[in-house]
Amino acid sequence: MSTDPKSPILTTTAGAPIADNQNSQTAGPRGPVLLQDYQLIEKLAHQNRERIPERTVHAKGWGAFGTLTITGDISQYTRAKALQPGAVTPMLARFSTVAGEAGAADHERDVRGFSLKFYTEEGNWDLVGNNTPVFFVRDPLKFPDFIHTQKRHPRTNLRSATAMWDFWSQSPESLHQLTTLFSDRGLPISPMHMNGYGSHTYSFWNEAGERFWVKFHFKTQQGHAHYTNGQAEAVIGQSREGYQEALFGAIENGRFPRWTVQVQIMPELDAEKTPYNPFDLTKVWPHADYPPIEIGVMELNRNADNYFNEIEQAAFSPKNIVPGIGFSPDKMLQGRIFAYADAQRYRLGAHYESLPVNRPRCPVHTYHKDGAMNFMPNNPNPDAYYEPNSFSGPAQAPQYREPPLRLSGDADRWDHRSGNDDYSQPRALFELFDADQKARLFANLAAAMQGVPDFILERQFAHFDRVHPDYGAGVRAAVAADRRRAGEEPSALPMHLEVAARLQGAG
Ligand code: NDP
Ligand code: HEM
Repeated sequence: MSTDPKSPILTTTAGAPIADNQNSQTAGPRGPVLLQDYQLIEKLAHQNRERIPERTVHAKGWGAFGTLTITGDISQYTRAKALQPGAVTPMLARFSTVAGEAGAADHERDVRGFSLKFYTEEGNWDLVGNNTPVFFVRDPLKFPDFIHTQKRHPRTNLRSATAMWDFWSQSPESLHQLTTLFSDRGLPISPMHMNGYGSHTYSFWNEAGERFWVKFHFKTQQGHAHYTNGQAEAVIGQSREGYQEALFGAIENGRFPRWTVQVQIMPELDAEKTPYNPFDLTKVWPHADYPPIEIGVMELNRNADNYFNEIEQAAFSPKNIVPGIGFSPDKMLQGRIFAYADAQRYRLGAHYESLPVNRPRCPVHTYHKDGAMNFMPNNPNPDAYYEPNSFSGPAQAPQYREPPLRLSGDADRWDHRSGNDDYSQPRALFELFDADQKARLFANLAAAMQGVPDFILERQFAHFDRVHPDYGAGVRAAVAADRRRAGEEPSALPMHLEVAARLQGAG
């Protein structure tokens, strides 16, 4: 109970002063409480509404504010004001793991989300990428299936290695991302020690109406640093919140993390000539073909004052582009353009873009009307509430028209696996690893395969063989070694893994 004369007077949510915040109103000292104690009811009722749905994926996250500073000159490719030489744009970043729930431990092996919201003077521009340049699937129709394999089994309520490898072994397009996930870079020590990638191919368009395809890269200036599975287990034993502690602590102590920003640019018509589909999210553009161009630096330098308001309520969405930046035919990107705003209307409400963290820093003029919890500013011109109108309401601006994109093709359900090389790029990655890195890759894969039926493992090994004979042989040997160890000393397998393995085998 504060006796500080500087403390403001405690009030109800309606602003009336509260005389006693220690004792409920009761009939006599022993109770019962009176229904008219509206402040008691208000406190209990409000607490019941403190939780909102967590994100269906990427639920555990860590974020901070900062700036994007452009030092290079790519004005020949894009008219986006935030990308012109010298531009400094305020921004928000949120990093995340994919599969774990909001209370998951930070140091789990998983892909990391790398979400960026740039508050540009032409509207919010969001890049919602990962710490990997590629993804597990290339058709949005497969995203819900893939995510179900990452979440809990409906009966055991445990995560299921069988489900994961059953899906992956029947989806060879996942090999590139799998090789990254189970390599050293699949377990960064903190959000500061990893790269970020826009991952998708986006487009740039310039004042002359020319289009270029573009990929975005954010290279860590802190250096890459990773934990092995064993190190991570020890870290989680000490703290499940290591990423929050590291990011929050670094910024609080003035050690502002930075990333060098690069783009790869492809002239529009090159897309018809590359040996790979440049809009396929399971592929990178080799640097030798499209060298990264350095364009600036991103720095995080301010922690949120309220995690829930500013990080949990942040709504990143690939739909948010600004003039000079456009989409591409990437099927996954197309699916995501729909999915995020839909999720956010459900998770946060119809007016989620009016929340302070999501609100653009430039004027917003729409004809949206009403809706639950509408706190959009009143329209100063109330007669102009439809369009077209004769009362000077907001009007379209043809100077922002994106150049037309030539598209053709028969509408069909095209087989995205037909004629697609799922093996060469994972091979290029595998060949980047030295002998120790390969050994850790094999061991990490074997650890994640415990309890998976042999017929599924054999299907997956065959894919590794096609990437590189050493890859298949290495994983087979690591799985056999794990099994020998478990056979020799069965107690080496923790009890919960034994139960999970038995249940997965049965399921
Ligand atoms: P390059 O040798 O020109 O580029 C290699 C890229 O791989 C660099 O971006 C580097 O990132 C990254 N890299 C280096 N070591 C590892 C590692 N242990 N785990 C994951 N990534 C690593 O080759 P290419 O452009 O021809 O690409 C070869 C392979 O590299 C690709 O198949 C892809 O798997 C991977 N890669 C390619 C990227 C691209 O955009 N081309 C981006 C990221 C990975 P850094 O400079 O930060 O060390
Ligand atoms: C979060 C859907 C693919 C990165 C989300 C959310 C949804 C979603 C619904 C929660 C959004 C929210 O509640 O605010 C999808 C669908 C995909 C897809 C349907 C494919 C069709 C991808 C890919 C990437 C990615 C390819 C990265 C390249 C992220 C990130 C978040 C996220 C980083 C967390 C955003 C945040 O920090 O708030 N996704 N996703 N997703 N997704 Fe995806």
